Amino acid sequence: MAFPAGFRWGVATAAYQIEGGVAEDGRGVSVWDTFCREPGRVRDGHTGDVACDHYHRWPEDLALLAGLGVDAYRFSIAWPRVQPDGRGPANPKGLDFYERLVDGLLERGITPFPTLFHWDLPQALEDAGGWLSREVAHRFADYAALVAGRLADRVDTWITLNEPVVVTAYGYAFGVYAPGRALLLDALPTAHHQLLGHGLAVDALRDQGARRVGLANHYSPAWAQDESSAADRRAAATFDLFMNRLFTEPVLLAQYPDLSVLGGPDPSSHVRDGDLAAIGAPIDFLGVNYYQPTRLRAPAPGDPLPFEIVPVEEYPVTGMGWPVVPDALLSLLRTLNETYSTSLPPVHITENGCSYDDRPGPSGTVDDPARIAFLGAHLSSIHRAVDEGIDVRGYFVWSLMDNFEWSEGYHPRFGLVHIDYETQRRTPKSSYAWYRDFIARSRSDG
Ligand code: NOJ
Repeated sequence: MAFPAGFRWGVATAAYQIEGGVAEDGRGVSVWDTFCREPGRVRDGHTGDVACDHYHRWPEDLALLAGLGVDAYRFSIAWPRVQPDGRGPANPKGLDFYERLVDGLLERGITPFPTLFHWDLPQALEDAGGWLSREVAHRFADYAALVAGRLADRVDTWITLNEPVVVTAYGYAFGVYAPGRALLLDALPTAHHQLLGHGLAVDALRDQGARRVGLANHYSPAWAQDESSAADRRAAATFDLFMNRLFTEPVLLAQYPDLSVLGGPDPSSHVRDGDLAAIGAPIDFLGVNYYQPTRLRAPAPGDPLPFEIVPVEEYPVTGMGWPVVPDALLSLLRTLNETYSTSLPPVHITENGCSYDDRPGPSGTVDDPARIAFLGAHLSSIHRAVDEGIDVRGYFVWSLMDNFEWSEGYHPRFGLVHIDYETQRRTPKSSYAWYRDFIARSRSDG
């Protein structure tokens, strides 16, 4: 599989999932610190307090990145390290940490791809309304300016938000992720405020000299359970609207799709003059996070949601029970390319990966052939998309190492590197060697 010259190979992580060090160097409390302490929220009461101890072990993790031969590393910056309460002057020690990391990456020839918000909102901002409040969008832009003020002389490429749809759905509508609000459709204003935060941050980042800015959206192709049922097709279209279009159309087309079928307060009713121009300001790339498709059927009478999710059963599944459907990534890329033809910027696959119950064997090695098969098949889909002329420019495996998988705690293992959480020992899995060789081959072929 030859990929175009300059195609960027990377891996991704996020601050709360790997760093630990939650009380160090003046870091404030995030909504995830709070959520993890509430009984019953996270499986087995796991927390991100220590995680992979990356806050202390980052030099070892840089060595793992260098050994892999990646071009780029996508990580996230913890807002509460930079602004403990989400507003006001920067905590210099917080910025120092990311500066050391960025400098370490650059010394090794690895391009940093920082994400400014990967879900760890400062608790003080949540107490003031969180993403339900418009003010948080402005605070986000201030924070973006502080980080870029320190790092934009070295960091070219920036990602504003990670998967805002998951924050709206899991964090505010269903309450299964922090901040644990179960507002159902009343969560929709968080969509507009995150989008506005993105738009204001794009402007703030560019002001500070950022050269390339994008956001990373979550996409899940929507399948109707019964294609011959108009009600099931409607359910799938409604899910698609929420999951795949709500955070894409305002950014790429500077307009909201018609959201009336969702019911609930229309996020566009929160739009003020100038908002859509800010949200729809051109971006330099679209980050696509893809894991699996979703199958839908019409809701039962009285169901508060306009669709019902049903399992996809005819494919093999990962350790989390997620169906493995590489073709759906190809169809997703085709759909994006057709739907947004003139406004779609270059795409980076900012996350793709799988969890399995990987354990060291008797000799201490960790063999994960299922992950190798998963990544290989998804890369074939991307290769095909590139062949068809779709402008995909990079691929980031989720994740460099096993880490804190949100409400599932440390049970799922998504890493190319195995973590023994007792000893913090890092063991590259067989997929690590496979990806390293894949990258090296693709460079010599490209
Ligand atoms: C998407 C999220 O961005 C990331 O934080 C998470 O660990 C992976 N999906 C796997 O669920």
